[in-house]
Amino acid sequence: MMKTAVLVSGGGTNLQAIIDAIRDGRITDTEISLVLSNNKHAYALERASKAGIPALSISPKDYGSREQFNQALLEAVQRSGAQLVVLAGFLCTIPPQMVEAYPNRIINIHPSLIPSFCGTGFYGLKVHEAALERGVRISGATVHFVDAGTDTGPILLQKAVEVRSSDTPKELQLRIMQQAEWKILPEAIQLIAHERVHIDGRCVTILPAADEAWQPS
Ligand code: GRF
Repeated sequence: MMKTAVLVSGGGTNLQAIIDAIRDGRITDTEISLVLSNNKHAYALERASKAGIPALSISPKDYGSREQFNQALLEAVQRSGAQLVVLAGFLCTIPPQMVEAYPNRIINIHPSLIPSFCGTGFYGLKVHEAALERGVRISGATVHFVDAGTDTGPILLQKAVEVRSSDTPKELQLRIMQQAEWKILPEAIQLIAHERVHIDGRCVTILPAADEAWQPS
Protein backbone atom coordinates (compact mmCIF):
# COMPACT_ATOMS: atom_id res chain seq x y z
CA MET A 1 0.00 0.00 0.00
CA MET A 2 1.56 3.28 -1.10
CA LYS A 3 0.79 5.94 1.51
CA THR A 4 0.13 9.29 -0.14
CA ALA A 5 -0.14 12.79 1.26
CA VAL A 6 -2.23 15.23 -0.80
CA LEU A 7 -1.48 18.93 -0.30
CA VAL A 8 -4.25 21.38 -1.18
CA SER A 9 -5.27 25.01 -0.83
CA GLY A 10 -8.73 25.34 -2.35
CA GLY A 11 -11.74 23.51 -3.72
CA GLY A 12 -10.08 20.13 -3.96
CA THR A 13 -11.63 18.82 -7.17
CA ASN A 14 -8.34 17.10 -7.99
CA LEU A 15 -8.31 15.56 -4.51
CA GLN A 16 -11.86 14.35 -5.22
CA ALA A 17 -10.71 12.82 -8.50
CA ILE A 18 -8.08 10.85 -6.57
CA ILE A 19 -10.57 9.75 -3.89
CA ASP A 20 -13.02 8.62 -6.61
CA ALA A 21 -10.31 6.78 -8.54
CA ILE A 22 -9.25 4.86 -5.40
CA ARG A 23 -12.91 4.01 -4.73
CA ASP A 24 -13.62 2.71 -8.21
CA GLY A 25 -10.33 0.85 -8.61
CA ARG A 26 -8.56 3.03 -11.18
CA ILE A 27 -5.93 3.61 -8.49
CA THR A 28 -4.94 0.48 -6.59
CA ASP A 29 -2.54 -0.33 -3.74
CA THR A 30 -2.69 3.31 -2.64
CA GLU A 31 -4.10 5.00 0.42
CA ILE A 32 -4.36 8.73 1.16
CA SER A 33 -2.76 8.98 4.60
CA LEU A 34 -3.11 12.75 4.92
CA VAL A 35 -4.80 15.74 3.30
CA LEU A 36 -2.97 18.89 4.31
CA SER A 37 -4.10 22.43 3.55
CA ASN A 38 -2.41 25.76 4.18
CA ASN A 39 -5.89 27.31 4.22
CA LYS A 40 -8.23 26.21 6.98
CA HIS A 41 -11.30 27.25 4.94
CA ALA A 42 -10.38 25.09 1.93
CA TYR A 43 -13.36 22.98 0.83
CA ALA A 44 -10.83 20.23 0.12
CA LEU A 45 -10.65 19.64 3.90
CA GLU A 46 -14.36 18.90 3.95
CA ARG A 47 -13.98 16.47 1.03
CA ALA A 48 -11.28 14.69 3.06
CA SER A 49 -13.37 14.38 6.20
CA LYS A 50 -16.40 13.19 4.19
CA ALA A 51 -14.17 10.44 2.82
CA GLY A 52 -12.81 9.60 6.29
CA ILE A 53 -9.28 10.75 5.46
CA PRO A 54 -7.11 12.42 8.14
CA ALA A 55 -7.05 16.14 7.36
CA LEU A 56 -4.90 18.89 8.76
CA SER A 57 -4.52 22.61 8.22
CA ILE A 58 -1.16 24.29 8.73
CA SER A 59 -0.96 27.96 7.84
CA PRO A 60 2.18 30.09 7.55
CA LYS A 61 0.26 32.63 9.67
CA ASP A 62 0.39 30.25 12.65
CA TYR A 63 4.20 30.30 12.73
CA GLY A 64 6.74 32.94 13.67
CA SER A 65 8.78 32.43 10.51
CA ARG A 66 8.59 30.75 7.11
CA GLU A 67 11.33 28.41 8.28
CA GLN A 68 9.16 27.18 11.17
CA PHE A 69 6.20 26.69 8.84
CA ASN A 70 8.38 24.74 6.39
CA GLN A 71 9.58 22.51 9.21
CA ALA A 72 6.03 21.88 10.45
CA LEU A 73 4.91 21.05 6.91
CA LEU A 74 7.71 18.53 6.44
CA GLU A 75 7.12 16.95 9.83
CA ALA A 76 3.38 16.56 9.20
CA VAL A 77 4.03 14.84 5.87
CA GLN A 78 6.69 12.59 7.39
CA ARG A 79 4.44 11.68 10.35
CA SER A 80 1.76 10.53 7.90
CA GLY A 81 4.21 7.94 6.58
CA ALA A 82 3.73 9.25 3.03
CA GLN A 83 5.83 7.67 0.30
CA LEU A 84 4.38 10.00 -2.31
CA VAL A 85 3.39 13.66 -1.96
CA VAL A 86 0.78 14.99 -4.40
CA LEU A 87 0.41 18.74 -4.86
CA ALA A 88 -3.20 19.18 -5.93
CA GLY A 89 -3.62 22.93 -6.17
CA PHE A 90 -1.24 23.66 -3.29
CA LEU A 91 -0.35 27.33 -3.47
CA CYS A 92 2.67 27.43 -1.12
CA THR A 93 6.23 27.05 -2.34
CA ILE A 94 7.59 23.63 -1.50
CA PRO A 95 10.58 24.12 0.78
CA PRO A 96 13.96 22.76 -0.37
CA GLN A 97 14.15 20.42 2.63
CA MET A 98 10.92 18.74 1.45
CA VAL A 99 12.29 18.31 -2.10
CA GLU A 100 15.46 16.80 -0.61
CA ALA A 101 13.51 14.48 1.69
CA TYR A 102 11.31 13.22 -1.19
CA PRO A 103 13.49 13.13 -4.33
CA ASN A 104 11.26 12.35 -7.32
CA ARG A 105 8.49 11.46 -4.86
CA ILE A 106 6.55 14.74 -5.12
CA ILE A 107 4.23 15.35 -8.07
CA ASN A 108 2.31 18.46 -9.07
CA ILE A 109 -0.62 19.03 -11.42
CA HIS A 110 -0.28 22.18 -13.52
CA PRO A 111 -3.11 23.44 -15.76
CA SER A 112 -1.13 24.00 -18.96
CA LEU A 113 1.16 22.11 -21.29
CA ILE A 114 4.56 22.81 -19.69
CA PRO A 115 6.78 24.60 -20.74
CA SER A 116 3.99 26.97 -21.82
CA PHE A 117 2.34 29.20 -19.23
CA CYS A 118 4.23 27.93 -16.21
CA GLY A 119 6.73 29.12 -13.63
CA THR A 120 6.49 31.91 -11.09
CA GLY A 121 3.19 33.79 -11.20
CA PHE A 122 1.36 31.22 -13.34
CA TYR A 123 -1.31 29.80 -11.05
CA GLY A 124 -5.08 29.56 -11.01
CA LEU A 125 -6.94 31.62 -13.60
CA LYS A 126 -3.76 33.51 -14.53
CA VAL A 127 -2.60 30.48 -16.51
CA HIS A 128 -5.78 30.41 -18.58
CA GLU A 129 -5.88 34.19 -19.03
CA ALA A 130 -2.35 34.04 -20.45
CA ALA A 131 -3.22 31.16 -22.79
CA LEU A 132 -6.27 33.01 -24.13
CA GLU A 133 -4.34 36.25 -24.49
CA ARG A 134 -1.66 34.43 -26.52
CA GLY A 135 -4.36 32.87 -28.68
CA VAL A 136 -3.20 29.26 -28.40
CA ARG A 137 -5.52 26.68 -29.97
CA ILE A 138 -4.50 23.91 -27.63
CA SER A 139 -3.79 23.96 -23.92
CA GLY A 140 -4.04 21.17 -21.37
CA ALA A 141 -2.53 19.87 -18.17
CA THR A 142 0.77 18.41 -17.00
CA VAL A 143 1.74 16.14 -14.13
CA HIS A 144 5.40 16.63 -13.29
CA PHE A 145 7.83 15.71 -10.56
CA VAL A 146 8.82 18.55 -8.29
CA ASP A 147 12.43 19.69 -8.15
CA ALA A 148 14.00 22.82 -6.70
CA GLY A 149 12.57 25.07 -9.44
CA THR A 150 9.01 26.16 -10.23
CA ASP A 151 7.34 23.77 -12.71
CA THR A 152 10.79 22.65 -13.93
CA GLY A 153 10.88 18.99 -12.87
CA PRO A 154 10.61 15.87 -15.06
CA ILE A 155 7.30 15.62 -16.94
CA LEU A 156 5.31 12.44 -16.27
CA LEU A 157 2.01 12.92 -18.13
CA GLN A 158 0.40 15.58 -20.32
CA LYS A 159 -3.01 15.83 -21.93
CA ALA A 160 -4.04 18.35 -24.56
CA VAL A 161 -7.38 20.16 -24.52
CA GLU A 162 -8.92 22.26 -27.28
CA VAL A 163 -9.19 26.02 -26.71
CA ARG A 164 -12.30 27.66 -28.18
CA SER A 165 -12.25 31.26 -29.37
CA SER A 166 -15.35 31.98 -27.28
CA ASP A 167 -13.72 30.67 -24.06
CA THR A 168 -13.56 32.75 -20.91
CA PRO A 169 -10.70 31.89 -18.55
CA LYS A 170 -13.18 30.09 -16.27
CA GLU A 171 -14.64 28.04 -19.12
CA LEU A 172 -11.18 27.00 -20.25
CA GLN A 173 -10.16 26.18 -16.67
CA LEU A 174 -13.19 23.92 -16.22
CA ARG A 175 -12.68 22.11 -19.55
CA ILE A 176 -9.03 21.49 -18.72
CA MET A 177 -9.96 20.12 -15.31
CA GLN A 178 -12.67 17.84 -16.69
CA GLN A 179 -10.85 16.59 -19.77
CA ALA A 180 -7.27 16.51 -18.48
CA GLU A 181 -6.47 17.16 -14.81
CA TRP A 182 -8.99 14.79 -13.23
CA LYS A 183 -7.78 12.03 -15.58
CA ILE A 184 -4.00 12.34 -15.65
CA LEU A 185 -3.49 12.95 -11.92
CA PRO A 186 -5.07 9.61 -10.90
CA GLU A 187 -3.25 7.91 -13.82
CA ALA A 188 0.07 9.30 -12.60
CA ILE A 189 -0.50 8.01 -9.06
CA GLN A 190 -1.41 4.56 -10.38
CA LEU A 191 1.79 4.47 -12.48
CA ILE A 192 3.94 5.45 -9.49
CA ALA A 193 2.20 3.03 -7.13
CA HIS A 194 3.01 0.22 -9.55
CA GLU A 195 6.63 1.29 -10.05
CA ARG A 196 6.10 1.94 -13.74
CA VAL A 197 8.03 5.20 -13.86
CA HIS A 198 11.73 5.42 -14.65
CA ILE A 199 13.38 8.84 -14.36
CA ASP A 200 16.68 9.68 -16.00
CA GLY A 201 17.53 13.33 -15.48
CA ARG A 202 14.52 15.18 -16.86
CA CYS A 203 13.42 12.27 -19.08
CA VAL A 204 10.70 9.96 -17.87
CA THR A 205 9.99 6.52 -19.30
CA ILE A 206 6.72 4.76 -18.57
CA LEU A 207 7.35 1.04 -18.19
CA PRO A 208 4.84 -1.51 -19.44
CA ALA A 209 2.43 -3.04 -16.94
CA ALA A 210 3.49 -6.39 -15.55
CA ASP A 211 0.84 -8.16 -17.68
CA GLU A 212 1.73 -6.26 -20.90
CA ALA A 213 4.00 -8.22 -23.25
CA TRP A 214 7.21 -6.36 -24.04
CA GLN A 215 7.56 -5.53 -27.75
CA PRO A 216 10.92 -4.69 -29.32
CA SER A 217 10.76 -1.28 -31.00
C1 GRF B 1 -6.07 23.12 -10.54
O1 GRF B 1 -6.37 23.83 -11.70
C2 GRF B 1 -4.63 22.68 -10.57
O2 GRF B 1 -4.17 22.41 -11.85
C3 GRF B 1 -3.92 23.89 -10.03
O3 GRF B 1 -4.77 24.37 -9.03
C4 GRF B 1 -6.13 24.00 -9.31
C5 GRF B 1 -6.67 23.31 -8.10
O4 GRF B 1 -8.03 23.02 -8.19
N1 GRF B 1 -2.59 23.55 -9.62
P1 GRF B 1 -8.73 22.06 -7.14
O5 GRF B 1 -8.47 22.64 -5.75
O6 GRF B 1 -8.16 20.68 -7.28
O7 GRF B 1 -10.19 22.10 -7.47
